[in-house]
Amino acid sequence: MSVTIVLGAQWGDEGKAKIVDYLTTDASVVVRYQGGANAGHTIKVGDLEFVFHLIPAGIVHPDKTCVIGNGVVLEPAALFQEIDELDEKGINTEGRLFISERTHIVMPYHKAIEKASEEKSGAGAIGTTLRGIGPAYYDKINRSTGIRVMDAVNSDVLATRVRANLAEKNEILTKVYGAEPLDEAPIIEEYVAYGERMKSLVVDTSVYLNEAIEAGKGILFEGSQGTLLDVDHGSYPYVTSSNTTAGGACTGAGIGPTRVDKVVGVVKAYTTRVGNGPFPTELLDETGNRIRDIGHEYGATTGRPRRCGWLDLVIVRMAVRINGLSSIAVTRLDILDTFEEIKICTNYLRHGERVDHFPGDLNVLAECEPVYETLPGWQTDTTGARDFSDLPENAQRYLDRIAELSGVPYSIVSVGPDREETIVI
Ligand code: IMO
Ligand code: MG
Repeated sequence: MSVTIVLGAQWGDEGKAKIVDYLTTDASVVVRYQGGANAGHTIKVGDLEFVFHLIPAGIVHPDKTCVIGNGVVLEPAALFQEIDELDEKGINTEGRLFISERTHIVMPYHKAIEKASEEKSGAGAIGTTLRGIGPAYYDKINRSTGIRVMDAVNSDVLATRVRANLAEKNEILTKVYGAEPLDEAPIIEEYVAYGERMKSLVVDTSVYLNEAIEAGKGILFEGSQGTLLDVDHGSYPYVTSSNTTAGGACTGAGIGPTRVDKVVGVVKAYTTRVGNGPFPTELLDETGNRIRDIGHEYGATTGRPRRCGWLDLVIVRMAVRINGLSSIAVTRLDILDTFEEIKICTNYLRHGERVDHFPGDLNVLAECEPVYETLPGWQTDTTGARDFSDLPENAQRYLDRIAELSGVPYSIVSVGPDREETIVI
């Protein structure tokens, strides 16, 4: 059984959860290793739709266990809401959901500070999901103000830390942002209750996962966000605050790189982005609107309309490089079914010179023009295809061109949200 990382190769919302759900059949454990409730992972099982923010999508398989690793920032209210909603849908998480004792907790002041900061930034805002992700990672890196799960399950430690932190956070809220301060008593009461409820879920997940690997079990790592939102490699500062790339699975779960067998990059057949920041192939025209309408491209966490554009191979190649991708899974191919022509951005042009690598400097990126190759559309419904040979010739050509330009083969093609709407190569 293999250890596989599934992650986003673009700006998130690539359809990672659908691929994770499909691959879970061959795994025993599914792991979230970074990010938090900023993620919105949607899967369809029969008539039921599930949107996960924190719990790995593998939980819908009753015989699998799920792990929330140390690299995640965990919002307890979101976690318990998800557990309760799963319960209502007949999915019992008891005994098969584990949280690392080292995972950091998202607190109400993280959300309050983020909201105040984004509002103050005006046009320069990052356009975050307002889930407190950045401020929670800030406290983690800051060290003295981070609160971990192991602290949250001890009511005395928790109360002491909340008091100390709030004194400082309220100064920031009131003096820097002119916002309302937060009351400490209700926060302590609420989080002590979360800590009590969390106790039975807490384990040393690094030990758990390494023992599972030793025992020959299959492990699936479910990335959230995407490569271009990685805090080190993405379109900084318009990124999230974690390492969304393959290395993040090692640090965020406590496994060594030699344990990983495969890294699958999920590539949506076109590109989308939510929030602010550069997007070279964005279509601010009818074609962009058409992709959004057909693809229902609205955020699963925030409901915001997603910005849409053609597939950008400069960023896919970057994802291949940073993550060492073994293969790619192409999703949402069916959304392009009606288009007469489909464009692929092969490289950029800057002052007449060819640019093959995504620039780190956004001022340089702003001077880059995408160069497109135009392919004929297939104008055929692909949702019924179950084998590569069922796909129209032009769709096969499009996929082959993606593989050629990215340098890695495609291993899975998704032609719809249902489990069956999947082609394995
Ligand atoms: P999944 O896992 C798409 C974006 C936000 C914003 C930036 C920073 O569903 O693919 P944050 O709240 O993380 O500090 O926001 O990152 N963002 C995502 N975009 N998919 C996601 O997750 C995202 N999570 C965060 O829109 O631009
Ligand atoms: Mg999403």
